[in-house]
Amino acid sequence: MTHTTPAFLQIHQADDAAVRRELAAGLVQSPAQVSPKFLYDALGSRLFSAITELQEYYPTRTEAGIFATQGADMASHIPARALLLDLGAGCCTKAERLFPVLRTAGYVAVDISVDFLRETLTTLQQRHPSLPMMGLGMDFSSSLALPPDTRPWLARHGLEAAPRVVFYPGSSIGNFSPPEALRLLRQAHAVCQGGGAGGGLLIGVDRVKPTDILEPAYDDSLGVTAAFNRNLLLHTNHLLGTDFDPRQWQHVAFYDSAQSRIEMHLQSAIAQQVRWADGERRFAAGERLHTENSYKWTPEGFVALLEAAGFRPAVHWTDEHEWFSVFWAEA
Ligand SMILES: C[S@@+](CC[C@H](N)C(=O)[O-])C[C@H]1O[C@@H](n2cnc3c(N)ncnc32)[C@H](O)[C@@H]1O
Repeated sequence: MTHTTPAFLQIHQADDAAVRRELAAGLVQSPAQVSPKFLYDALGSRLFSAITELQEYYPTRTEAGIFATQGADMASHIPARALLLDLGAGCCTKAERLFPVLRTAGYVAVDISVDFLRETLTTLQQRHPSLPMMGLGMDFSSSLALPPDTRPWLARHGLEAAPRVVFYPGSSIGNFSPPEALRLLRQAHAVCQGGGAGGGLLIGVDRVKPTDILEPAYDDSLGVTAAFNRNLLLHTNHLLGTDFDPRQWQHVAFYDSAQSRIEMHLQSAIAQQVRWADGERRFAAGERLHTENSYKWTPEGFVALLEAAGFRPAVHWTDEHEWFSVFWAEA
């Protein structure tokens, strides 16, 4: 069968009252915070793609190197003809490279950045017309379960009983604190168990390493990461109707070794008041808005997390510097 356009289900709605409540609740907290998922609108997704090309941003090319050199070995552990579920698919490049390696039978790309996902998946479908594809525009931070509306599509393509490979690359798991990550991985485990035998999780994880390698990756010399971070303010203006002026906010990124995490913040350059329809928040000069954490893991710590989430003992592959790891854990 030839597919010209991918199936698409849009669950996440940018104009949702729940989105506005979540943003407002974070802004009035002390310290103020906005979830990193709001870094991604169409422009945020494009800025992230630019970040992945920066010399300082080692994770993308390091992870790609692991897949390129060790993909064949990975394929000997991972079931062929599986349904590949890509969490936070972005530009879908990483999954596309896996299609021939894993002989993927169906592809479901999940992302909160709905317009960007529609665009990238439509182009991807044209390059792979025989592969059934579905886009799921949804926020998986509340639930990872496949929406019931995916069932007719799975049935139509004979994919209900296919093993499910949940693919979560790019160390996006690092955006969650260890207890939140455990909760998400338990949900990923349940998703894998919803398909045929042999399914599991293929996940890329950034490792603990020296600060002088970590910090420039989140504070590059061209200021692309700073623009990506500040774009969260424009996105918040769009979603909540706030009057943030990005020029009055400075990008701050540092490694907290006690918590093994990079923190990203926006720091107010002046004393200012930010207003929206039914709320406001005063920021002193130098006060920060916390926008992202990126936890770094040791392989031992991550294997223990996978097992606590219900997965079997994992196998993992790494690069020559041991900066990044890719784990395969059967459900
Ligand atoms: C760091 S980027 C990784 C993109 C790509 N997978 C890669 O590895 O290069 C994170 C991706 O996850 C998506 N994302 C972040 N939070 C999400 C959420 N709560 N639900 C769905 N997608 C999310 C973003 O839109 C973005 O495309």
